[in-house]
Amino acid sequence: MSTAAAAAPTGSLSKPTNLAINGGTPVSKTAVPFMQTALAENDINQAIAVLKSGMLRAAKKCEELERRFGQMTGSRHMMTCANGTCALQLAYEPLFQPGDDVLVPAWSYIATVSMVVARGGNPIFVDALPDTFQIDMADAARKLTRKTTAIAATHLYGCPVDIDAVQALASKHGLKVIYDAAQSHLATYKGKGLGAFGDAVTYSFYATKNLGTGEGGAISCNDDALAAQIKALRSHGETDKYLHTQVGYNYRMNDITGAIGCSKLDRLEAETQKRRDAAAKYDAIISKIDGLSAPRTTPNATPVYHLYVAKMDPAKFTCTRDQFCEALKAEGVPTAIHYPRSLTRQPAFKRFSDAQGHPPIADKLSTMVFALPIHHGLTDDHTRTVGEALNKVAGAYRA
Ligand SMILES: Cc1ncc(COP(=O)(O)O)c(C=O)c1O
Repeated sequence: MSTAAAAAPTGSLSKPTNLAINGGTPVSKTAVPFMQTALAENDINQAIAVLKSGMLRAAKKCEELERRFGQMTGSRHMMTCANGTCALQLAYEPLFQPGDDVLVPAWSYIATVSMVVARGGNPIFVDALPDTFQIDMADAARKLTRKTTAIAATHLYGCPVDIDAVQALASKHGLKVIYDAAQSHLATYKGKGLGAFGDAVTYSFYATKNLGTGEGGAISCNDDALAAQIKALRSHGETDKYLHTQVGYNYRMNDITGAIGCSKLDRLEAETQKRRDAAAKYDAIISKIDGLSAPRTTPNATPVYHLYVAKMDPAKFTCTRDQFCEALKAEGVPTAIHYPRSLTRQPAFKRFSDAQGHPPIADKLSTMVFALPIHHGLTDDHTRTVGEALNKVAGAYRA
């Protein structure tokens, strides 16, 4: 393992000559694949079978996906839809009203919050916990207003939030709870599937997700009346043939997507375990490198590592997080930043953040986090390369 720093200072930043980015020999000439999205032969065959049947609309395959994924996540009703953004819209519409205040994470993917705004809700931005990156429920309690009627919490990167704390705040103040599990298929809390908690849970099956069908999504809930309402909204408010009892949408899935989802579902448990195994290896590597921290898991939660997001403390190095990642890339280890800015820094939410300010932890995370390659196709060689590259770059840029 090469950790030597051949440092040659340039201005305030050193320019270590052993690094590949400065002309040194890379740890690996071929890059570690950042993700694995290729379809298996069976996925393709199942999609072809639907094409041959001519039954392209939402039919048996979508129903099968709903039944099986519902069982696997511990929910009574699972409803497929066009994508994870539609899933959020379908869940939000019956659960809060325009003008309501909704507690939302300042650290998440934009859709969790933009669909609150699309519904006419006022997002109240809650800070993140620095080590798990999940919504900070102590901050949520501080930010509660008289107009707050709901919490929209993201199980981010594949790790469940502190569900006990969310549910306690919700029952104390009569709030509805929507969990965005777009990144957390098959994660559990206290041994139960995420479908057991809250008023509704939403999923995305976007191509890169742990269960990826291209585009696709789903909503789960345990209340019969709410499920009926969501199903109606999903299909133009239709409750009987050409009877539309409310204004709705066409947010349905189709059976080609459903067939790919069912086929991939066969492998999801095994593929999730591979992600956990790789994460355990990364944890061990990172725990020995001063200035880097592995993601922490919420107590009682079992994560699924949609992303493996580590933190780099720029004070411990002579480079920024972005320079650190550039150097890793040159060594053969691609990274990604989830996310380069907190949601209150998004121009789309300026009118809310002007009034509310910027939660400090979320702001700080945007300069510290980086995601390492994680997926079911990682080999021991890949994780070894990642470890060597992290040690080499950290050693070279040591402050
Ligand atoms: C946390 C989260 N919520 C919602 C979405 C939206 O899902 P989709 O892209 O399927 O609309 C995503 C997708 O990246 C996400 O990561």
